[in-house]
Amino acid sequence: MITIVGAGRVGISAAIHIALKELDDITLIDIVEGLPQGEALDLSHMCGILGIDVDIRGSNDYKDMAGSDIVVIPAGFIRKADMTRMDLLFKNYEVIKQVSERVKEYAPNSKVIIVTNPLDVMTYVAYKVTGFERNRVIGFSGPLDTGRFKTLIKRELGVSYKSMDVPIIGEHGETMVLLPRHTYVCGKPLTELLPKEKIDKIVEETRKMGAQVIKLKGWSASHAPGAGVAIMVESIVKDQKRVIPTSVYLQGEYGVSDVCLVVPAVLGRNGVENIIELPLNDEEKNAFMKSAETVKNAIAQLKL
Ligand code: LAC
Repeated sequence: MITIVGAGRVGISAAIHIALKELDDITLIDIVEGLPQGEALDLSHMCGILGIDVDIRGSNDYKDMAGSDIVVIPAGFIRKADMTRMDLLFKNYEVIKQVSERVKEYAPNSKVIIVTNPLDVMTYVAYKVTGFERNRVIGFSGPLDTGRFKTLIKRELGVSYKSMDVPIIGEHGETMVLLPRHTYVCGKPLTELLPKEKIDKIVEETRKMGAQVIKLKGWSASHAPGAGVAIMVESIVKDQKRVIPTSVYLQGEYGVSDVCLVVPAVLGRNGVENIIELPLNDEEKNAFMKSAETVKNAIAQLKL
């Protein structure tokens, strides 16, 4: 069973994609009475129409996550157009702390996927509060940011998404580190396919894409995050061992410790099964260190 805590737009989008992939039965949990039950009904009818044999139920009781293999957590406050992800720090800390305590109590053997912002800090909070091994507490954002970058690469080069290999490291936030030198299109690095000015421009555009979505549609992205979460869930449930950029507690990898940041990770049955260390040049290393510093400073402001 897969539990999703938070039946808002992102949670429901994740549920849709997980159901469409027929990964497992789904339990939606939310504190708003009626909301998860109503969404579960609606989604069950969707499954009925499509002939998808997945059971979906809604609940206001955290106990109903018992027995979950994976708990996805998009619960919390979302940002407005004039906010950075870090502006949500204190409010979402309370939410993630509380939910993590419940996960520790009711789903002690689960793998946890945090989706709430500020992503890397909230992943750290969940790691500390649950006390689970680091391979079982991961943060989602990588497929979202690389997905955004891919749309811009496609715009520039007119090649299929399927022919791209796009890594990302660092913070899911203002200091995210895209790696054009390690971004490959049909076996060629992006740095040989586009002029530097163009690359700088699309990297910057990617960084601002989350805010752009909010500004245009009035609320935070949901379709893309839901699809991305399902990719992570799929790799774990089917033990695919795909390399997916994942926020995870680092213990010396990339030269940093005691912080969660996005790195390329092998996702399989046990969650993070390996971390891939890319050879970084000084510029890339400095950018990653800036991410580490930003997330560490935020963590230092919390009572953990
Ligand atoms: C985004 C927010 C949700 O990147 O972090 O769209």
